Amino acid sequence: MSGAEIIPVDFHDVHTRFGSNHVHRGLTFSLAPGEVTTLLGPSGAGKTIILKLIMGLVQAANGTVKVMGRDMDTIGENELRSLRIDIGMLFQGAALFDSLNVFENIAYGLRERGEKDEEKLAEIVKDRLAMVGLPGIQKKLPSQLSGGQRKRIGLARALASSPKIMLYDEPTTGLDPTSTRMIDDLIIQFAKERGITSLVVTHDIQSARRVSDRWMLLSRGVIAADGPVEQVSEHNRLVHDFISGSWKEDV
Ligand SMILES: Nc1ncnc2c1ncn2[C@@H]1O[C@H](COP(=O)(O)OP(=O)(O)O)[C@@H](O)[C@H]1O
Ligand SMILES: [Mg+2]
Repeated sequence: MSGAEIIPVDFHDVHTRFGSNHVHRGLTFSLAPGEVTTLLGPSGAGKTIILKLIMGLVQAANGTVKVMGRDMDTIGENELRSLRIDIGMLFQGAALFDSLNVFENIAYGLRERGEKDEEKLAEIVKDRLAMVGLPGIQKKLPSQLSGGQRKRIGLARALASSPKIMLYDEPTTGLDPTSTRMIDDLIIQFAKERGITSLVVTHDIQSARRVSDRWMLLSRGVIAADGPVEQVSEHNRLVHDFISGSWKEDV
């Protein structure tokens, strides 16, 4: 990595609390440009909150969260708004607006940000639909699409603003194997061809193996394992226990 390159995501000793629930107890990690990292961990460990910390939707109680070099604790509202253009998030469930057609679903965030040039919007929507392999379906309603197609429209929407960072929250949960494979391939393609730094939360170990360069395991509020996939999946005891189903939270 050249010295001038900005670290897309950089956490240092991050703690989060919700009332008496001390969820994160000193998270330290950074994501390198263009890298695909999978975040593993049991339900309720605080994986989604990590994505929300990166989006600036949740504030750390202690420690430093830096995104594209900016400190999320001191960032102003205008700066946060412009930073979010660089971040695409595929939320768990990837809910589309049922009453809006595919075009309006993908254009939604761009319109919110004040984009009024209809020709430009049409061009972007067309491009993103091609990227997710669903060209020409601008006029369809979400109800006319399969689960896998809806997920891909969610992806197209997340990609609308040409993000440098993509956050995926359980992107393949509930999808059939073919759709899962398609989403996996898109995640890889966006990272490798466009250099999009990607953080994927998933319980699908097969997908996690396929898409990622690196795994991190979140357990008991800290990053308990972190490294190249082959290394941690073969040689890390905690990761081994987690993926083999012999996990005990309190060991
Ligand atoms: N907005 C919130 N207010 C209060 N507690 C929350 C909030 N968001 C998450 N939590 C709590 O934080 C913990 C971690 O949540 P989450 O990040 O959603 O877990 P995961 O995605 O790993 O399943 C859970 O105990 C959850 O109840
Ligand atoms: Mg979650």
